[in-house]
Amino acid sequence: MNKKIKYLDTAATTKVDERVLDEMLLYYHNFYGNASSNHKFGNQSKQAIEKSRLKVSELINCSPSELIFTSGSTEAINLALKGFVESNDDKGNHIITVKTEHKAVLSTCEYLETKGYEITYLDVDENGIISIEELRNSVKDNTCLIIIMYVNNETGVIQPINEIGKVANELNITFFCDATQAIGKLSVDVVSDNIDMLCFSGHKINGPKGIGVLFKKHSVKLMPLIHGGNQEEGLRSGTYNTPAIVGLGKACEILKSEMEESKNKILKLNQYLIHELNKITDFKEISKKQLRVPHILNIVIPNLNSNIFIDKFISTAVSNGSACNSEIIEESHVIKSMLKKGEFENNYLRISLDKYTSKDDIDSLTKSLANHLNSRYA
Ligand SMILES: Cc1ncc(COP(=O)(O)O)c(C=O)c1O
Repeated sequence: MNKKIKYLDTAATTKVDERVLDEMLLYYHNFYGNASSNHKFGNQSKQAIEKSRLKVSELINCSPSELIFTSGSTEAINLALKGFVESNDDKGNHIITVKTEHKAVLSTCEYLETKGYEITYLDVDENGIISIEELRNSVKDNTCLIIIMYVNNETGVIQPINEIGKVANELNITFFCDATQAIGKLSVDVVSDNIDMLCFSGHKINGPKGIGVLFKKHSVKLMPLIHGGNQEEGLRSGTYNTPAIVGLGKACEILKSEMEESKNKILKLNQYLIHELNKITDFKEISKKQLRVPHILNIVIPNLNSNIFIDKFISTAVSNGSACNSEIIEESHVIKSMLKKGEFENNYLRISLDKYTSKDDIDSLTKSLANHLNSRYA
């Protein structure tokens, strides 16, 4: 047990809610049938999957039949992007996305470039927000897809999704939104935001790892990535991961009823964190407060070497949101897109909170940080 380690890295992943785990265990031990089997065991699993699908759909205001279960957001993104272009040859080969997207989007776009697609990567301003005017100006006759995330995983910055959806809808371009960091933090409504495809993942919302979902409007055509037994209307073959799907549904049900309560708690914790940080050091918050979700705080601290801090203070798990692989230390493409050269240099920290975060966790971080900064100045 990691009792001593204070966990402030919920943007990376979250602890599973016990109520989620309890429901999942039933589908490992009691109702373990294959949902595609034509007998009672199979039917029990199938029913549980459909119940879950309904719970997920209620959270984002779509129809249950518009959802495809995947292994997580990375797979959902790959299916949405590659599956879309393969199935919509006639719609053009130009795609618009943003420089600060998650690597799952950026790497898939790079792959599509090798297949002949032209990608426009929109800039962001110092607050991490795109310009709607630049988006409009980037559209060409052959633009087939706009890909813009809801909330950034490194900074918590919220893009103007409603305005983006309006532009895409007006110009009849399919709009894909990665909502992995938005679900549970904001009310997401695919209808009022004119979103055609959207994804999120169980492990960011106190649900299990290895499960996620792709929403796609009925009218959007996709080619599957994985062929096999025709599960999920042929769009995602492979034996259903019933316990994980049940867990995702339960996590969504809990969010629907408890989101306001946990949002209030996290807002207070965020204020406490900033108050405590102010006592020990100068720092700059990346992006304006009102443009971010309170779950993620990314700060630049003068004279901090965040890699050394993260390595040394192993009792507090935070992140600098830059290393895709802990062996490789690279500057964050997100921070680089927002700040000028010289405004940062490996001196930023991402602190992320959720309903399980306590003041004690925050105190532990600020204490470690104060010790680290003092030892550097000594
Ligand atoms: C914004 C965003 N998109 C996509 C992903 C990938 O999600 P998954 O781990 O479910 O593949 C993540 C997770 O780090 C994320 O934060």
